[in-house]
Amino acid sequence: MKKILTIVGARPQFIKAAAISRAIQEKYHTNIEEVIIHTGQHYDQEMSEVFFNELNIPRPKQNLNIGSGNHGHQTGEMMIAIEKVIQSEQPDAVLVYGDTNSTLAGALAASKLHIPVFHVEAGLRSFNKEMPEEINRIMTDHVSTLLFSPTQTGIENLLKEGISENKTGSYTIDNPGVILSGDIMYDNTLFFAEKANKDDTIFSKNKINKNNYLLATVHRPANTDDEIKLSNIISSFIKIAKELNTQIVFPVHPRTRKSLDKLPQELLKQLTDENGIILINSVSFLRMIQLESNARLVLTDSGGVQKEAWFMEKPVVILRPETEWTEIVSHGNGVLADTSPELIYKAASEFLNNPPTIFPQIYGDGRAASKVLDAVCNSQWY
Ligand code: UD1
Repeated sequence: MKKILTIVGARPQFIKAAAISRAIQEKYHTNIEEVIIHTGQHYDQEMSEVFFNELNIPRPKQNLNIGSGNHGHQTGEMMIAIEKVIQSEQPDAVLVYGDTNSTLAGALAASKLHIPVFHVEAGLRSFNKEMPEEINRIMTDHVSTLLFSPTQTGIENLLKEGISENKTGSYTIDNPGVILSGDIMYDNTLFFAEKANKDDTIFSKNKINKNNYLLATVHRPANTDDEIKLSNIISSFIKIAKELNTQIVFPVHPRTRKSLDKLPQELLKQLTDENGIILINSVSFLRMIQLESNARLVLTDSGGVQKEAWFMEKPVVILRPETEWTEIVSHGNGVLADTSPELIYKAASEFLNNPPTIFPQIYGDGRAASKVLDAVCNSQWY
């Protein structure tokens, strides 16, 4: 029996943890004991609690209640608290997901105590080190013992950084294992999609025309904390809704809510249901995949949402200058429009007129969690 300490803290990690925890409960409970620790990075009910309830994730043994803060402060506080947990729990390994400050804090605290780190969602690169997530990804990958990449591109990125494909079945931090697992988010999308579409209340309650809306999300600081970029994005939403005769459903992240309030009144006044812009609070995972599966098109700066759009076979307008999910763009099913009103409008208009229809299975087969846990159970790591 191996004891694994899983560190979660931010919204996308709760969703990823659901797939691994579900697989442990179903198939691996005689080999693995999982202890979940919540850093407290996300703390609002709609950013945290709702996911544990809805996705049946085991309750975290502890919530470290770190909360928001500057990056160094937030990550440092997390490291201090996680180090203490590792010392008292004495796990065999620490599992981290994705690229948030909680990921980095868990990986650094564990590796410095010589506890093997397992990184789920390894190898992704945007090649933009101004993104805090890019730094978190690179650092985490380089102190991990088992690296689970969702894509072949991820494996190639790791190879270029000198992390080679060790196939011996015996792994250490200096000689790590790189495993193509497929995307864990795909497991969840497949698992929850049917359940998500059983209840249409979200459409009726918010006066959404289920057959004619686009879904938008914006939460990256590079967009929300720059008034010009945020204004550009918002004005393009207004123009798209008006001129392309569609609704835009926009679940708003808490940070974005604060930034929207600071925009010029003339712009804010236009964000109305009558103009086709439906602002709603952040939604749960089930509601999100339901909104994605019925949308005609997705506009987003989120990595996870870009991919969920692909899983749902929807085109995506990416509100960033680059993406770590490069396959979406190279297949022509996504466009990097950044915050240019012209590019955003043009991409949306072209996709609506001529929606792409081919979405090859490049993110695995929906059994990433089993691949991760098979590798954990059937290899040696120290
Ligand atoms: C974090 C991750 C990002 C991920 C995102 C998912 C990092 C560096 N970024 O970004 O990769 O895509 O989570 O949402 O870790 N806030 C609240 N309530 C909450 C949480 C946050 O009001 O429950 C507000 C606070 O004003 C806070 C701000 O949102 O300062 C940012 O939160 P933070 O956790 O630092 O980063 P995210 O933008 O959510």
